[in-house]
Amino acid sequence: MDIKKIISQMTIEEKLLMLGGKDGWHFYGVERLGIEDVRVCDGPHGIRVQTENEHVNLPATNFPTASALASTFNPDLLKLTGETIGKECRHYGVQVLLGPGVNLKRSPLAGRNFEYYSEDPYLSGKIASAFINGVQSQKVGTSLKHYVANEQETSRLFISSKVDERTFHELYLTPFEMAIKEANPWTIMGSYNRINGTYGCENEHTLNKTLKKDLAYDGLVVSDWGAVNDKLDSHRYGLDIQMPGPVALDDRLKKAVLSGDLPLSIIDDHVERCLRLNQRVYKKGDNCGLDLEVNHKIAQKVALESIVLLKNENILPLKSNTKLAVIGRFSDDQVRYNGGGSSWLNAYRVERPLEFLKAKTKVVYAPAYDQEKVTRKSTEEALLAASKAKVVLFFTGTTASMESEGSDRTSIDLPHQHLALLKKIHKINSNIIVILNNGAAVDLREVQPYCKAIVEAWLLGSASGQPLVDILFGDHNPSGKLSETFPLQLEHTPAYGNFPGLGDEIVYSEGLLSGYRHYDTRQLKVMYPFGYGLSYTSFKLSDPVLSQTKITKDETLTLSVILKNTGKRKGQQVVQVYLKDLESYLPRPLKELRAFKKVELEAGESQKISFTLSERDFAYYVPHLGRFAVESGLFEACIGFSCEEILCSVKFEVNSDDKVRPHLSLDYPYNRWISYPYENTQVKKLVEMTRNPFWWETEPPLRRWLKVLKLEFNWSDSKLEEVKAMLMEEE
Ligand code: BGC
Repeated sequence: MDIKKIISQMTIEEKLLMLGGKDGWHFYGVERLGIEDVRVCDGPHGIRVQTENEHVNLPATNFPTASALASTFNPDLLKLTGETIGKECRHYGVQVLLGPGVNLKRSPLAGRNFEYYSEDPYLSGKIASAFINGVQSQKVGTSLKHYVANEQETSRLFISSKVDERTFHELYLTPFEMAIKEANPWTIMGSYNRINGTYGCENEHTLNKTLKKDLAYDGLVVSDWGAVNDKLDSHRYGLDIQMPGPVALDDRLKKAVLSGDLPLSIIDDHVERCLRLNQRVYKKGDNCGLDLEVNHKIAQKVALESIVLLKNENILPLKSNTKLAVIGRFSDDQVRYNGGGSSWLNAYRVERPLEFLKAKTKVVYAPAYDQEKVTRKSTEEALLAASKAKVVLFFTGTTASMESEGSDRTSIDLPHQHLALLKKIHKINSNIIVILNNGAAVDLREVQPYCKAIVEAWLLGSASGQPLVDILFGDHNPSGKLSETFPLQLEHTPAYGNFPGLGDEIVYSEGLLSGYRHYDTRQLKVMYPFGYGLSYTSFKLSDPVLSQTKITKDETLTLSVILKNTGKRKGQQVVQVYLKDLESYLPRPLKELRAFKKVELEAGESQKISFTLSERDFAYYVPHLGRFAVESGLFEACIGFSCEEILCSVKFEVNSDDKVRPHLSLDYPYNRWISYPYENTQVKKLVEMTRNPFWWETEPPLRRWLKVLKLEFNWSDSKLEEVKAMLMEEE
């Protein structure tokens, strides 16, 4: 397709039509020139597709939701997930999947956390990139959402997220940036909210400058559904397509173009991006077959690695034939496998864990609750069941109404009536294994003491029964790791007291200390840390080796370490590398995830694992430079199995010519000019020319001391100016 040629053949009306959706789920083509419409559908963990005319939801594989997917720490599996969903899109004639979502988990209360990967931008970026590469390998586009700083549901259509420049770049923009660099999503969805006062879909700074100029994004920016506030401003400042359509027809855009107020070149750029998408996606009719059974097996495989074993006091894995009391309808007809809202889909073959448990061993079942509600009768039944079994499997978690798009949670508590029941059961049978179904962190203080094991099964998608049984009975060794911190209590969370905010602004006042960066830096105890998850085998890490101990910022560093499976079973472990900047001018979080690898080892087997670290891993965002920069100094690579369980570490020095220290002015005092880590050579020259200052001369602005020196050394006015200029010279 010769895009430039097509643009030259299009009328202005055809061009403007392209900038609004054709209907809820199509972008316009140009029929006259043989350009097809593009069909889009919701994701992100499966395709929500309807028949075009009757609007009947068609069956699709429901993969585990994002929190679970990220807990695999396995980009290969994410690629496979993406490929599989891509194939389903291709079967159903869908050319763009609306996902994945990479907003960060600022607070566990955010209603859409189940749809987002992590509190950590690096993990989110890696997982999203793998997923996007998978989907797009099928010539199906993705829509990376919701760009940007869209971390809550309350007031989502107008709230302004106030976030400082450094935090914006180091945290909230990073997953988008990584995904653009590593996978180039063909579309990006502009968010509903405002960012520092301006709507996400008309924000010149985040769209035209950051996304299209700085990150050189060449794809298409589509608005979230109903997110456009002023379409003229939107198209002027970087939005390509307004959704959903049909968009109200008025001739404001046309008038603006004809009058020269909105240059035609801007419209042409939008159209070029629309046509580029058209060129990238598969052509209508080029569909592929669908075997939902095969895809179901893939979803089982992904679910297996998503499950995180949080606690195990020698009760798991279960011996075959263990008589079980299965408590709770989440195991059966109220199985929790997805959150609510636009990611909801018609899931093909939803497995109920109870059925799979019954196929495996002897089971007594008690429904115990209807969503949150427990009655006296259901309590009695549950207690009776528990008394008859060796081990109790207690299913609990968030109910459908607790976790959904459109609203935030007001607490991270599990249903109180479930917890009361758990305590009663514990008095009768203490061999309890708690199975959790939730899309975001919950408070486990009232669960921990009343069970011997906790299995975090998330919202595991439609294929959750078999994987859960395989983990419980040890046919598969758990390998999931928490993609978010489980705090001790809500009050300890970084955004507590500042979420979801009052009025129309939410200040991200915790700044960089979000997620584990907060608990880790402030040395706060948590229930379960980021990156944590148990296995049925044990692992040892040893012999960390660096390729060099001194590098310049543009050199890469190789870090290797030996991982050994010291237990009796095959298992997978996620080796995580966190970097500490031991000497930095601006404050930084204590340490940050910079690399990870998931490795499978047979019992007794060892493997050397290597990581490559480079410039961006050492860098932080320096506001006065307006970019990421590396500061010379000492770093430490901490290697372990969670952000708390660091098993070995090595130090190295990085040399950089980046001028991280802000340029000083004469309004700063002498002692700032000479302060660590940079001794300013210019001010030293001044001292050599004159004398050392007295202590009282070191604290006021330097220009005051200069006045004193002028008198003392009989400088002329021009000499003073010369000295000032010398001081201001770049080192
Ligand atoms: C959601 C998007 C979704 C869109 C289309 C919006 O309300 O925020 O994530 O893709 O609807 O359903």
